[in-house]
Amino acid sequence: MKLVIQGGNMLRGRVRVSGAKNAALLLIAASAIVRGEVILDNVPRIADVETQLEIVRALGGRAEWQEANRVLLNWPDQFEAIVPYKLAKKLRASNLFLGALAARIGQVQVPLPGGCDIGSRPMDLHVKGLNALGFEVVLEHGFIDARARELRGGRIYLDFPSVGATENIMMAAVGIPGTTVVENVAKEPEIVDLASFLNATGATIRGAGTDLIKIEGREPGARSVSSEQMRFSVIPDRIEAGTYMIAAAAMGTEVTIENVISQHLQPVIAKLQDMGLDVLVDEDSLTVRRNGSLQATDIKTFPYPGFPTDLQSPIMVLLCLAIGTGVISENVFDNRFRVADELKRMGAQIRVKGHTAVVEGPVRLLGAQVKATDLRAGAALIVAGLVAEGETEICQAELIARGYEKVVEKFSALGARIKCVD
Ligand code: EPZ
Repeated sequence: MKLVIQGGNMLRGRVRVSGAKNAALLLIAASAIVRGEVILDNVPRIADVETQLEIVRALGGRAEWQEANRVLLNWPDQFEAIVPYKLAKKLRASNLFLGALAARIGQVQVPLPGGCDIGSRPMDLHVKGLNALGFEVVLEHGFIDARARELRGGRIYLDFPSVGATENIMMAAVGIPGTTVVENVAKEPEIVDLASFLNATGATIRGAGTDLIKIEGREPGARSVSSEQMRFSVIPDRIEAGTYMIAAAAMGTEVTIENVISQHLQPVIAKLQDMGLDVLVDEDSLTVRRNGSLQATDIKTFPYPGFPTDLQSPIMVLLCLAIGTGVISENVFDNRFRVADELKRMGAQIRVKGHTAVVEGPVRLLGAQVKATDLRAGAALIVAGLVAEGETEICQAELIARGYEKVVEKFSALGARIKCVD
């Protein structure tokens, strides 16, 4: 799949943010903990969600779209929890079935996720957590095989506040009798959404969003909801919102991004204001207004509430347009500057050394044929194409469709000249 963009159009108007990919993928897995029907609202129709739903079906669960962004999920009483490799290899978030199925039935096999274009993606913290809870975890034949042995609440300290490890440990712990305390956990809004979801099923989780989470668990599979369906709405996607904010900063006159939780976007708002943009925050929307030139700034990515690593590639494009030198430190992943090579083909001046990228600006970006190396690099190339003189062709654009719902329609509605060609 390719996207073709004619650069130079200014962006203006309003764009509505979809439900958060990284919350939807998580809650689809977490639904396995619930006995009874689960209705998830505000689920984005993106490729990664379709794959996660395929995994539910492959395990014998019901996973049906009811309306545009509503999904019904229901798991059978008995099923064999072996996540199929052919589906799991498509997305790392398949590893979230590890904790959910451990909670539900006490044993699970999940393929070890392969590496990808943003660095090695180990699972050591996930394994450490499950071991501490009394699961015997064996890594063999490309699978993580976790089986309940002497399940007990545990005290776990995460060497790094891993989002996925925090999520898997939270889900596994709700199916274990006793109290589990996890320290140095991730504080992302998606973690808080998971805690809200699990508490709605009758779990007792406190501290989500802070450095320490306490979980009161029960026997595996004991989770149950009241007779009628359980309904839950996914939070808005802060990374999609940030992507449109950055595009508006690059080519905006004035763009309003609707259906946001501005608190989740504080680090992005602060950085855009540093660069000279007006950002007006409303109840559930915010407006980015470009008035004059952009000033370079330094970006350091950190776990939430730091600047999100998922917006590091998009803001790199903005630094190409800013006056001065911007220094980016990527502190979350070990290989997340690959978009720099593509941007340099468009005229960017970027020097990458280890975990640091130095961006000189302002430069004239010229349209070119480029390649999306991962989802967020692809989003960054859209922003670059909107700015560049001439035509930009982004190949491997299916990677963008993994995480951005209706991306062509949304950018076109703001005035971009963008189309999808197979
Ligand atoms: C989640 O990935 C997100 N994915 C990523 O978004 C996001 O970039 C990342 O969190 C950081 O915010 C989903 O939620 C589905 P981590 P996750 O475990 O959970 C190291 C996107 O574009 N680590 O917090 O895999 C790891 O190598 C995607 O939407 C270990 O060392 O991220 C990395 O350097 C990309 N051992 C760092 O932690 C472990 O056991 C952060 O990883 C686990 C992780």
